[in-house]
This record gives sequence, structure tokens and C-alpha cells, in this order.
Amino acid sequence: MEQPVVLSFASLRQRALDCTACALSTTRTNVVFGEGAEQAKLLMIGEGPGEVEDATGRPFVGPAGQKLDEVMNSVGLRRQDVYITNIVKCRPPGNRVPTRAEAEACTPYLEAQIALIQPSVIVALGNTPTQWLLPDAPGITQSRGTFFSWRGGILVFPMFHPSYLLRYPSKEKGSPKYLTWMDIQKVKAWLDEQARGPEGTPAQI
Ligand code: URA
Ligand code: SF4
Repeated sequence: MEQPVVLSFASLRQRALDCTACALSTTRTNVVFGEGAEQAKLLMIGEGPGEVEDATGRPFVGPAGQKLDEVMNSVGLRRQDVYITNIVKCRPPGNRVPTRAEAEACTPYLEAQIALIQPSVIVALGNTPTQWLLPDAPGITQSRGTFFSWRGGILVFPMFHPSYLLRYPSKEKGSPKYLTWMDIQKVKAWLDEQARGPEGTPAQI
């Protein structure tokens, strides 16, 4: 996408579905634009589609998606309450990390999605979205579980990527799973607080 134009969700999606702005267009099966509530308070951003996402055109529906559902459901968050998308909309072959050039080619779509959704809080899942949103933040192990102020109005809250939880199944205190279950509670508490009253900014935790 060359210029940032204000498009409707439908026309933005159509542009993405037709996109050939980077080489990932040559290996994808389906573009995974994103889905959920277009007026969501909470936007979740992953890295890029995996195999099942590429096959179905839907974000976070493979094993990592099932883990993400578990995390969300633990605090009563449902898919239809949030919007879920990725830094790149086409699958990087072999699930490698998207290159900087691919992310740069694709993030105008994400920018437009953020402008349309106007979320209050963005959960960045893992290092890739965290580094894109917060280039100066420390790595995910240090930055997760913290609310960062982003562009003056929106909060960004990094969490571990659900694939990481699949690799570390322990639920012991201090484990990635344990920390993630605490983190999602923080997000939910913040959303509940916002829903209760118009005032109040969460403390830096
Ligand atoms: N991992 C991601 O980062 N995004 C998806 O949509 C699926 C797996
Ligand atoms: Fe276009 Fe993004 Fe897909 Fe690259 S990854 S072809 S920029 S939609």
C-alpha cells in the first residue's frame, strides 16, 4: 500500500487480499487479514500466519491459537470481544520471523486497522510486534506484563507469544505460563476498570 488513505474495513481487507507488495505473496495460500470486533477495545497483534492460518485465512486458529484461546478464556475474554491480527498478513515460509522489509511492506495495513479500530489497549504477542510497536523496549522477557504508553493515547501491553507457552508447558510459579496467566488478568482488570468509569489511567505496573 503506497499511501495511507482512510478506507473502510471492507475495502482495506480487499486490498490486503489482493496484495503483492512483498515476496510473501508468492508463497502464501491465503492472506490472513485479521478478525474480530471492529470496535474492539482490545487489539491483539501476533507475528504472522502459521500453517493452519495460511490454509484457512484466519488468524490464530492453529495450535498457538488454541493456546491463545485458553489464555483469553481464563479471564472470560471471547474472540468476538477483541480484534486479532498479525504484523505480516501472509505466512513466512517455515514460520520464520518476518524480515524487516516484509514488516515494513505490510504494516501500513496494520496502521490502517489501528486507525479504524481505535483500540484502548494493544496486546503485543511476543518479540516481533513488541519491537515494531516499541523499538526501544527491552526484550519480551523484561517487557511483558508492563503497560507502555504508545503515541500518547493507546496502551501497549507485551505478553509472551502463545507458541512460546507450547514449548514450555510448566505452570510453576515464574514459568512463562504462570506469568502469562497473571498478565492476562492484568489486561482484563484494566478493561473492567475502563468499562466501569470514564476516568482513570492505569498505573505503570
Ligand atoms: N502465530 C502468529 O503469530 N499468528 C498467527 O496468526 C498464528 C500463529
Ligand atoms: Fe502484502 Fe503483507 Fe502479504 Fe506482503 S505480507 S504480500 S505486504 S499482505
